[in-house]
Amino acid sequence: MKFFIDTANLDDIAEAQALGVLDGVTTNPSLMAKEGITGEENIKNHYIKICDIVEGDVSAEVISTNFEGMVKEGEALAALHPQIVVKLPLIADGIKACKYFSDKGIRTNVTLVFSAGQALLAAKAGATYVSPFLGRLDDISTDGLNLIAEIRQIYDNYGFDTQILAASIRHTMHVIDCAKIGSDVMTGPLSSITGLLKHPLTDIGLAKFLEDYKKGNS
Ligand code: E4P
Repeated sequence: MKFFIDTANLDDIAEAQALGVLDGVTTNPSLMAKEGITGEENIKNHYIKICDIVEGDVSAEVISTNFEGMVKEGEALAALHPQIVVKLPLIADGIKACKYFSDKGIRTNVTLVFSAGQALLAAKAGATYVSPFLGRLDDISTDGLNLIAEIRQIYDNYGFDTQILAASIRHTMHVIDCAKIGSDVMTGPLSSITGLLKHPLTDIGLAKFLEDYKKGNS
């Protein structure tokens, strides 16, 4: 399972990269705004900074909602750096743009996916990644994990190459449950990755080992 971090915060990206388990980054316009990154040029420069930190795919989202605009924006984003993946919303023009980019060999991440039918369309359009939003479904009392399982089954039935990128991950149990289902990728905040390190028995065991070493070597 690939681990992506879902942030535009360079410190968090660097920390996850330093851990040695990071495979990529996803961003969205809200995450960029949260870091105070505004204006076309600043946003583009920020993507390049992210690509310089991480070894792996970096999703950069288009703002346009029509086919022509998405193609223009997506081509400009893809030209920024070989690690850039063009992130497109799951709307009719987004699916058209996804097909256009996949025919050209430009990688895509189809985002804002909330149903198995939407995920099927994204795969048929040749998406590299499809992003079902697990946490946002859970937020409205709908089983987000069930959606990941449905997409897994459909993609396996037909051998689609599109990778399931479980998005809107909120905590470590989401990561573990997605791994059990067979999601190809997960993207979440730094805490969802570093949280996997934690177990009190590890801390207690380590303290005891060090204490015993000290006793025997003092
Ligand atoms: C995915 O690509 C999105 O950026 C993200 O996972 C959305 O997460 P949120 O629901 O926590 O905002």
